[in-house]
Amino acid sequence: RHFKSQNICRSDINAHNAHFTALFDSLIPSEEEKSKQKELLATLESLVVKEWPDARLHLYGSCANSFGFPKSDIDVCLVMKLENEDKAEVLLKLAEILKAENLQNVQALTRARVPIVKLMDPVTGIACDICINNILAVENTKLLRDYARIDVRLRQLAFVVKYWAKKREVNETYQGTLSSYAYVLMCIHFLQQRNPPILPCLQEMRSTYIASAENVECSYFDRVDLLREVGSPNRESLAELVWGFFHYWAYCHDYANAVISVRTGATLSKRVKDWTRRVGNDRHLICIEDPFEVSHDLGRVVDKFSIRVIREEFERAAEIMQNDPRPGVTLFEAY
Ligand code: CTP
Ligand code: MG
Repeated sequence: RHFKSQNICRSDINAHNAHFTALFDSLIPSEEEKSKQKELLATLESLVVKEWPDARLHLYGSCANSFGFPKSDIDVCLVMKLENEDKAEVLLKLAEILKAENLQNVQALTRARVPIVKLMDPVTGIACDICINNILAVENTKLLRDYARIDVRLRQLAFVVKYWAKKREVNETYQGTLSSYAYVLMCIHFLQQRNPPILPCLQEMRSTYIASAENVECSYFDRVDLLREVGSPNRESLAELVWGFFHYWAYCHDYANAVISVRTGATLSKRVKDWTRRVGNDRHLICIEDPFEVSHDLGRVVDKFSIRVIREEFERAAEIMQNDPRPGVTLFEAY
């Protein structure tokens, strides 16, 4: 079942390329939607600064990392210095302010793992979650967006993969499958591994961007316009990469010993990270190192049942990309 070869390829796969690129084109959010999101962000910021003059709002997650689908909720991070008040107090106060301004469904969830205020803007119809001082998320959003600007094939591949993961129901962390953030990191890692590589490792290059977030230094080469101009000598098409992606995760990754590390542009050993056994509820059955918070394994939500589900889905997808006459249809058939 685990034939290990990177060389077998499907000679007619490019006949299906137009199908995958058309799917990507149909999934890109419109400019109108982007500008509505920015408008809502500006409205919210104007309300926030009346109460906290030094506070700022940042978009993060899929609405800002360029991997978002149309009509998704937006994720907003309120960045401010907290003196004596705690996050819960600020969120409750924020909820009062937003209610008074006629925003709908305002709710403070102060006891969630990441405490937030939820709301819906009746003018734009956009729903929004606001968290406080989650600066690492703002920084990893920029890192993902910068990777996406190097080569359009990252964004194309990640859209296809996210679409597949949602259709096949393997994008639900509360059920032990992986977050969208984890899938995008798997796409970046895969494109760093191609021969020749399609993406470099920005964190191993000279730092042109340095920020610090929650005592973690976030630094990397962010002059990606320079890399985009040069381009990669690798000319693989989107269809070939979709084929290669599923083949890689079905047959070529060493789940027992390897850690996926976008930070180093390679894999690390689980032993070195001490991710070899279960600690509490954190298991390490598929290990994906967060690029900045390196003690964080994005695979920790995956349990011994869901790892089988995920790997079987990779194998199903690889098999379809290898043999199916209509891979661009069968791949996305609902679970
Ligand atoms: N995030 C994180 N650590 C995680 C999960 C998420 O830092 N373990 C942050 C990342 O900045 C990520 C954002 O939260 O971009 C949103 O995560 P997620 O919901 O997985 O991804 P989205 O890109 O919003 O995808 P979707 O379109 O599925 O909502
Ligand atoms: Mg999201």
